[in-house]
Amino acid sequence: MNVDEKLNDPAFFSHGDFYQLFDTMRRDSPVHWTSSPDGRGYWSIFRHADLKRILNEPELFSSEREGVMPAVDPAMAEVAKDAMGVGENVLTIDPPRHGPVRKVMSPPFLPKALADSEIRVKSLVGKIFDQLPASGEIDLVSDLAVKIPMAVICEILNLPEEDWDEMLSWGKMAIGGSDPEYQRGTAAETVAYGYRLLYEYGLKQHAARQGCPHSDPITQLSNAQINGGPLKPSEVAHNSVQLMLAGFETTRNAFSGGVLALLQNPAQMALLREDPKRLRLAAEEFVRWSDPVISLMRVATKDTEIGAQKITAGQRLMLWFPSANRDEAVFDEPYKFDITRHPNLHLGFGAGPHFCLGGPLAKIEIRIAMEELLERYEGIEITGPVERIQSSFVGGLKHLPVRLIARQEAA
Ligand code: HEM
Repeated sequence: MNVDEKLNDPAFFSHGDFYQLFDTMRRDSPVHWTSSPDGRGYWSIFRHADLKRILNEPELFSSEREGVMPAVDPAMAEVAKDAMGVGENVLTIDPPRHGPVRKVMSPPFLPKALADSEIRVKSLVGKIFDQLPASGEIDLVSDLAVKIPMAVICEILNLPEEDWDEMLSWGKMAIGGSDPEYQRGTAAETVAYGYRLLYEYGLKQHAARQGCPHSDPITQLSNAQINGGPLKPSEVAHNSVQLMLAGFETTRNAFSGGVLALLQNPAQMALLREDPKRLRLAAEEFVRWSDPVISLMRVATKDTEIGAQKITAGQRLMLWFPSANRDEAVFDEPYKFDITRHPNLHLGFGAGPHFCLGGPLAKIEIRIAMEELLERYEGIEITGPVERIQSSFVGGLKHLPVRLIARQEAA
C-alpha cells in the first residue's frame, strides 16, 4: 500500500503503525497532496503548528462547506453531509451563526455547572463500578468505558436509561461504519443508518420538549430564539445527535486508551497510585496519547498558503490529530507516555471556535473513573487481544479484555 492508500483506508488505523507514517510525513511532506477514491484529492496536514492555525481561522478554513467528516470515497461523501446535518449541527456551522448556536447548548458544560455536577458524576460512575465483579474478567471497553460517558451525557441531556443500549448501537454504526463488527451493508450504508436512527430519536426529543421549562440542552435548543426565530426541528435534532455522539463516543476512547497506556507503563501506574491527585494532569495525557479524534476535514474558502504550499479555494484539507500530538517541535519525548507532562499543548480537543465544548466534562469523567478503578482494584492485567476500531475519524479501542483483582483480595 502506498501512503495515500493508507491514509484513505480506515482499516489502516486499526492495525497499521500510523504514528510511524505520520513521523515520516511531518519530516518529508508535512502538507501532502493525497489522491482519494472520489478523484478529488485533498491536502493532508501533519504538523501541530499548521493544524493549530487552520483550526483558528474558520473564515479561511470552513467546517460548513462540506462538513468535517473525513469522507473521501464517493459513497461516503454522499451520506456524510446529510448524516451530520452540515450547516445545521454546531460542529459544521461557520461564524457568525456558530457562536449563538453553541451558546444555547453550553450552560451545563461551563466550569460553574461542572463543579456542581461532580458529585453526581461520582455517583453515576460508582453505580457502574458496582455492576462489575469484585474480581474477574471483563472487557474494559464494553463493560466500563462505554457506560461511563453514556450515563453522564444522558443525565445532562435528560435521556432515559432504557434507551442507552439502542443509542450505543446506533452510535457504533454512525462512527464505526467501516468496521466489519458494526456493519449493516456497506460502510456508507451503515453510517447513514446509524445517524438516521439517532436523528429520528433527536426529532422525537425535540417534539416532546417544545414549550417545556427544563434547562437541559435539548430543551434549550427546542425553545431557543436565534436572530429572532426558533431553530428548525432538523437543527435541534442534528445538534442533539452531536451532543449524544460527542458525549459518549470520544471519552470512552480516552479513558480506555489511558488505562491501556498505564498497563503498558507500570512506572506511570505506580506514580498514579502513589498520588491520585496526579489525575488532573494525567487526564490531559490520556487524551494526547489516545487521540480519540483521528482526523477532521476543512475546506479552503479562498486561495491561501500553508508553509510554502499554495492551497486553492475549494480544496479540502484533512487534519491528522495523532500526528500533531506527537510533533517533536512541540512535545519533548513525544513517544513517552508521561502523566506529569506539563504544559501539555495537545490538540486532542481541537482549538479555535469549535474547541471541544465537552472537554472539561470529559476530563472530570476520566479522573473520577480512574480514581474509582484505582481505589477498587489492586491489580489489572490484560488477558487477551487488544483491538482497535477500524476508523480514521473517531477511533480507539474496541476491546480491552482484562482481569480485575479487588483490593482486599490482593491484600
Ligand atoms: C476525550 C473526549 C473528547 C474528545 C477527544 C473530543 C474532541 C473534540 C474535538 C477535536 C472537537 C473539535 C471539532 C472541530 O474543530 O471540528 C470537538 C468538538 C465538540 N465536542 Fe468534543 N471531544 C470529547 C468529549 C466531548 C464531550 C464529553 C462532549 C459533550 C457533549 C463533547 C462535545 C463537543 C461538541 C458539542 C463539539 C462541537 C463544538 C463546536 O463546534 O463549537 N465532546 N470535540
